Formats: sequence, structure tokens, C-alpha cells
Amino acid sequence: MNDDVAALGRIWSTRAGIDLGPLDLIPDGKARSYVLQIGAARFHGFVVRKGEAVVGYVDRCPHAGLPLAQALDQYLTPDGDLIMCSWHGAVFTVEEGTCVGGPCVGARLSPWPVEAREGRIVTA
Ligand code: FES
Repeated sequence: MNDDVAALGRIWSTRAGIDLGPLDLIPDGKARSYVLQIGAARFHGFVVRKGEAVVGYVDRCPHAGLPLAQALDQYLTPDGDLIMCSWHGAVFTVEEGTCVGGPCVGARLSPWPVEAREGRIVTA
């Protein structure tokens, strides 16, 4: 992390065990943005739901470092099969966060470990 980012109070990971709310906040096959205020710092991430499973990533595209969605919660391609960055069209696998099309093929989103536990989403 460089000094400018640190000065803005942005952090890129969270501790385990933070309750992010009910699993049902995310419709099956959709994604949701989360912003966590942790002390003076903020974390920006998103979670994709597939059935009872969830996968999370830091909301930062490896192409140019921007948050992926320009419209709230719009992290997926229309068919819901891939994560898509709204800026230059990079697409990523949901399961691994690997870029499979667009300007940064082979790069990866940074994982944000989350899990579904008794109907809640919790950081892992
Ligand atoms: S910033 Fe995501 S594709 Fe360029």
C-alpha cells in the first residue's frame, strides 16, 4: 500500500468473523457491494452468491485499480456467469477471480474470504 492510499484510510482486507448480514440480502446468482468502516479506515468489497455458496473479492480491478461497478451492485455479466468490470470490460471467473477476457487477461481479483454460515454471510 502506498502512502497516498494509506492517507485516504483505505484497507484491502478484513479480520475474520465480521457478520455481513443475511445471505438473503443477495438474490441467488447476483452480487452485492459492501463497504465496512473499521475504525478510521474503509474496506470496499463485493460478494457473489451462487445458491448457498458465496465468494468475495476486494472491489478493485487489477487493470487500473478502479472499483468494478459504476452502478450499485452491477458486478456481473448479464447472464450472471462472470464478474465484469464496468470500466474497460475485463471479465473474471466467479470462482477464482481470474481475468479471462479484456485488458488484463491472466490477472486476478484479490480474494476477500467470506462464507455462508447459518443463513448469514460472515468474513472468514
Ligand atoms: S479498470 Fe477494470 S477493466 Fe479497466
